[in-house]
Amino acid sequence: MADPAPLLTLLLQDAMASALGPSFAGADPVLRPSDHADFQANAAMALAKQLGRPPRDVAADIAAAVRESSAASASAASAASVVESVEVAGPGFLNITLSSAWVASLVESALADYRLGVPTVAAPETVVVDYSHPNVAKEMHVGHLRSTIIGDAVVRVLEWLGHRVIRQNHIGDWGTPFGMLIEHLLDVGEAAAAHELSVGDLNAFYREARTKFDSSSDFADRARARVVLLQGGDVETLRLWRLLVDESMRYFALVYDRLGVTLSSADLAGESTYNPVLASVCAELESLGLARVDDGALCTFPAGFVGRDGRPQPLIIRNSVGGYPYAATDLAAVRHRVRDLGATWLIYVVGAPQAQHLAMVFETAREAGWLVPPARADHAAFGSVQGEDRRMYKTRSGETIKLSDLLDEAVSRASAVVASKSGDSLSADEQAAVAAAVGIGAVKYADLSNDRIKDYVFDWDRMLSFEGNTAPYLQYAVARIRSIQRKAGSGDAGGSGGSGGSGGSGGGGAGGSVGGGGGGGGGGPVSISEPAERALALHALSFASALSAAVDALAPHRLCTYLFELASLFTAFYEACPVLRAPSAEVRASRLALCSLTERTLAAGLDLLGIVAPERM
Ligand code: ARG
Repeated sequence: MADPAPLLTLLLQDAMASALGPSFAGADPVLRPSDHADFQANAAMALAKQLGRPPRDVAADIAAAVRESSAASASAASAASVVESVEVAGPGFLNITLSSAWVASLVESALADYRLGVPTVAAPETVVVDYSHPNVAKEMHVGHLRSTIIGDAVVRVLEWLGHRVIRQNHIGDWGTPFGMLIEHLLDVGEAAAAHELSVGDLNAFYREARTKFDSSSDFADRARARVVLLQGGDVETLRLWRLLVDESMRYFALVYDRLGVTLSSADLAGESTYNPVLASVCAELESLGLARVDDGALCTFPAGFVGRDGRPQPLIIRNSVGGYPYAATDLAAVRHRVRDLGATWLIYVVGAPQAQHLAMVFETAREAGWLVPPARADHAAFGSVQGEDRRMYKTRSGETIKLSDLLDEAVSRASAVVASKSGDSLSADEQAAVAAAVGIGAVKYADLSNDRIKDYVFDWDRMLSFEGNTAPYLQYAVARIRSIQRKAGSGDAGGSGGSGGSGGSGGGGAGGSVGGGGGGGGGGPVSISEPAERALALHALSFASALSAAVDALAPHRLCTYLFELASLFTAFYEACPVLRAPSAEVRASRLALCSLTERTLAAGLDLLGIVAPERM
């Protein structure tokens, strides 16, 4: 472990136990980074209330105990003592300064570890992450793009922390629209339809079917009859349906590939998957006394949901003509994920408008005993992507934006930026690879860096800027450090092994290339003397804390903020502390080690966000 915070927490808990009594061994020291020292611990204020003593006295007792125990641990470990000084400040804060030697030793141990000292979780779980889930024969809208990007980052971090992750792409591949889609497919001809879908003309295909459905009663009748055949399991109808699903998925797979998203066809578990068990789901809920017929439809009435009329709000699980709506499928999925897949944590990366639906599904599942501790479900809800007009982001003509067009535009805009920035220092091939990494990275990072629950405005210029909290800024920071390393001839420039920026680290998943730079070091023994070295080292060492904060809140933006601060602290360090022209060989080696820790941490963090960091820019 290289993160000082957890170690410091243990030390403070020991101190609280010996100063205040054994029952305080588990108290939260309320540790935070501090402007006046390395950390501050704010526990004394709350504890003082509990103890009925002045906060400054409580703080002083804890401080005294820290001084004793840190002296003891120093002798025990025969290493430097952990805490250099601990002072009571203000109403009862503890300002804690770590010993420089200890910080230096943590940097060295992080560098010696391919995981940068980030431990795996003590109790790994089986986690189902439900994300992306576009609808067949319909263009993904920007909401699906958000789900895909956020979900994939969550999956990568969870896996890296040691959880067993099961991706579930709950695509919309069932329901009444398939009647009209299949009839339209027959009208156009299979080959032509397959072509139209696989190249991503999903919107056109859907619109054509819809127009016919609305304007021709003959077509509408055919469509309705086709739905009956589909639900009845007619073999030929199922074959045509499969064709629609396969061709749409072929197009979505191209988008996933360009995005560098880890979803594969093995993760497909669309709505149709649950078809065979929907009747049993309804029967089980009925026999548990949780579902009853209301106005012809079978409904559950999960506790805590009341309609506008003040009456319990129904969740329809079978409609009056015997069809199973969205909610029935979701209930089947919860039961399957917990009971058959063995998941204890279900994460749904779905837009905020579906909050009520999911909450009602989860509550029904709890009442049915399908979702009981340790199993639980979280809705990782997200806001909408807006245009400059603050309305849902669409094309000028008001249509859903075709994702492959959006990604094309990202890469072509990035090419222009890269050409003007890196000019002729890169070959044409390299420039193309960098443009892909920057363009795709910018789109993903713009999404991930915003608190997911908030709406954000899609702004090309901002996301492609080399300044501010953007992908290009971070990618450039990595490339710059690698260039310093090349100049230093340290032979440690190969962070993530020639990833070159070819538009995605794709596939892989489990552990991927994170931290892949090998423990070669890229510097000598570390010594920390300048404030800028110290600030950089402490921030780099808190990578593990940043990752757990991101996972606990299912908030990738916390990881983004962490990386942005790391890159900014690096800039400050590089301005204050010459590396290649350091005053001595020892200082140079130590600063190169800090460069290496920064570079590997940034590259690992970007990789966990699903963003490629080019070698050179
Ligand atoms: N296909 C759905 C849509 O486009 C999203 C599915 C979300 N996942 C779920 N288990 N309900 O809105």
